[in-house]
Formats: sequence, C-alpha cells, structure tokens
Amino acid sequence: MAIPAVTLRSTTEADLPFVRAAEQATENAQFIRQWSQQRHLIACNHPDERHWIITDTANGQAVGYSIFLGIQDPDQTILLKRIVITAKGHGYGRAALKQLIAKAFNDFQANRLWLDVMTTNARARHLYESLGFVEEGCLREAVKTPNGFASAWVMAILKSEFYGTITA
Ligand SMILES: CC(C)(COP(=O)(O)OP(=O)(O)OC[C@H]1O[C@@H](n2cnc3c(N)ncnc32)[C@H](O)[C@@H]1OP(=O)(O)O)[C@@H](O)C(=O)NCCC(=O)NCCS
Repeated sequence: MAIPAVTLRSTTEADLPFVRAAEQATENAQFIRQWSQQRHLIACNHPDERHWIITDTANGQAVGYSIFLGIQDPDQTILLKRIVITAKGHGYGRAALKQLIAKAFNDFQANRLWLDVMTTNARARHLYESLGFVEEGCLREAVKTPNGFASAWVMAILKSEFYGTITA
C-alpha cells in the first residue's frame, strides 16, 4: 500500500469539535482516555505540550490528531500521549507516526519517546513495533474502563535507535 502524505498543523480552538468527536467515537474511545475541551485547549497553548491536527496533504482534509507531552522535560523524555486516525487502514497512522518520531528527535531533541498502549489494541501495537518502538513492560490493570480494569504495554524508542534504524 502506498503511504499517503500527511501534514501536521497546530490544532486551534476551532478544530476541537473535530478532535472531541474523534476521541468520543466508539472505535477510538475503547482505546484512549477522554479529555475535556479545556484540557485540549491547554495542550494547544502550553509550552510543554504540542497538539496537532493530521491532514491529508493532497486535499487538506483532517484525518486525525496527535498530542505530545513533556517537550521541556529535563530528562528529554517525550510522551506520545495520543494519536487518533479517523480514516483508519489507509496508512495515515504510519505516515503521521513517522513524522511524529522524527519531530521528537530532530525538532525537540528527545532522547526517548514513549507511550502506553492497551494490550487489546493490536493494530496500534503492530504499528508502533513496526516503526521501532520496543516493549518495555506491562502496566497491569492501569486503565479503568466501563468493562473493568485493562492493562497497557509501555513502549519506547530511543534517539540512538531512531538514528540507527528509522533514518538508515
Ligand atoms: C492506531 C491508529 C492510530 C493507526 O492508524 P491507521 O491509519 O489506522 O494505521 P495504518 O493504516 O497506517 O496502519 C495500520 C497497520 O496495522 C495493521 N493492522 C490493522 N489491524 C490490525 C490488527 N487487528 N492487528 C494487528 N495489526 C493490524 C495494518 O495491517 C497496518 O500494518 P501494515 O502497514 O504493516 O500493513 C488508528 O487505527 C486509530 O486511531 N485507532 C484508535 C485510537 C488508538 O488506538 N490510538 C492509539 C492509542 S495508543
């Protein structure tokens, strides 16, 4: 499958209805936590955080969003807090993640980019692993869901791994 070109642009308040609708959609809500409009707005403006709309470069259509936390972390550890793609299975997630990983190491001088992914989220886990994220452990029953407590894998990619693999 040809990977589509995507663009990351900063999220504005006007984008938040799209963001919240994507977050609340059943196919996404089962894998991610829900934020208030206010919390998203903070992420749009806070110097330690970044909030992007992912668009299809060909037509400018929004296809998802993503959030980084910890841009200014003294340990140079950035959390990929969120990625949601509304038009799934077209390669947008892979294209966006490649850019996000490059941003973390090239633009924000991260030493480590990490995330947690629910153990039931096979699609996301496959994608992260295929782009160089390494499983580091399991947060057992760390996520409270309507159906009980769920577990999540901690995954991370290091600067040395990024420069050794992704750009090779
Ligand atoms: C996870 C997500 C961001 C991926 O974006 P996407 O655009 O659908 O992903 P892509 O089309 O780029 O790639 C999906 C990959 O997963 C694979 N895949 C699809 N379903 C799968 C499954 N059930 N198990 C394993 N792999 C699967 C696809 O084959 C593809 O891999 P390939 O490129 O090696 O063939 C998107 O599906 C999403 O928003 N999910 C809901 C929210 C979420 O889970 N966010 C991440 C929280 S940690």
